[in-house]
Amino acid sequence: MTPEPPTKPLVSLRDLTVELGGRPILRGVTAAIARGGITALIGLNGSGKTTLLRALVNEYPHKGTIQFHCGHDHSKAYPEAIGYVPQRLSLDARLPLTVRDFLALTLARRPLFLGISKRVREKSKAMMERVGVGEYLDVPVEGLSGGQLQRVLLALALEPQPELLLLDEPAAGIDFKDQKKFYELIAQINRDTGVTVLLVSHDLNMVQTYAHDVLCLKGGSIQCQGPPSEILTPINMSLVFGAELHMFPHRFGG
Ligand SMILES: Nc1ncnc2c1ncn2[C@@H]1O[C@H](COP(=O)(O)OP(=O)(O)O)[C@@H](O)[C@H]1O
Ligand SMILES: [Mg+2]
Repeated sequence: MTPEPPTKPLVSLRDLTVELGGRPILRGVTAAIARGGITALIGLNGSGKTTLLRALVNEYPHKGTIQFHCGHDHSKAYPEAIGYVPQRLSLDARLPLTVRDFLALTLARRPLFLGISKRVREKSKAMMERVGVGEYLDVPVEGLSGGQLQRVLLALALEPQPELLLLDEPAAGIDFKDQKKFYELIAQINRDTGVTVLLVSHDLNMVQTYAHDVLCLKGGSIQCQGPPSEILTPINMSLVFGAELHMFPHRFGG
């Protein structure tokens, strides 16, 4: 088999259509997710961003094609290759567990009541240090701030090392200073590991600073795609966000 040229996108979507509750949510989405880059997915609430991420992890039946060009067989779900930090944690974050126990539940191959093995202890420590919260292993999950919890979820999404990292509004609910640090961390992980990142964000300043490519969804269709310098123009943004653009504070180039 000849190796794929490096310019090929990691994922190509062709005419992707997803219906939920009998309603078309994604309508013929054709787009490419650049290999090794950070692609930002933007659009109003309800435009289908989360649906697109969930379609990528095979959670929703779809028409059209989702093609991964990474050498693995993606005709079946291949969860190891995709890390996913969801928009909302669908389990109760008031877990009466320490972060160490929470990580062990995922990493250990035996019940937690048998104690945590040395392998899992070392692994958990390394995972937390990698995302800058190594000192929080003995803190209860419910004692974490929004930003710290996002880092724990990010650590889990990075284990095992994915080829594609999906982040659904990862910095929502984090205060401004920590948001910037969180984006810095994503950029650093992208640089260090080459993982392809697709992240949903409402913060156009962060998108401008950290994304290599921008994908705009409107009413379930692609409105525009390209590098931030071409896409984040006042005209494009008023097409994507319409009258609600004022909700997204952003300093356009002039
Ligand atoms: N499971 C579902 N069943 C029916 N409709 C859904 C479901 N999930 C999402 N939707 C609808 O799909 C549209 C897009 O939702 P979503 O992908 O969450 O948008 P976004 O993430 O851009 O805010 C919304 O109108 C939402 O109500
Ligand atoms: Mg969403």
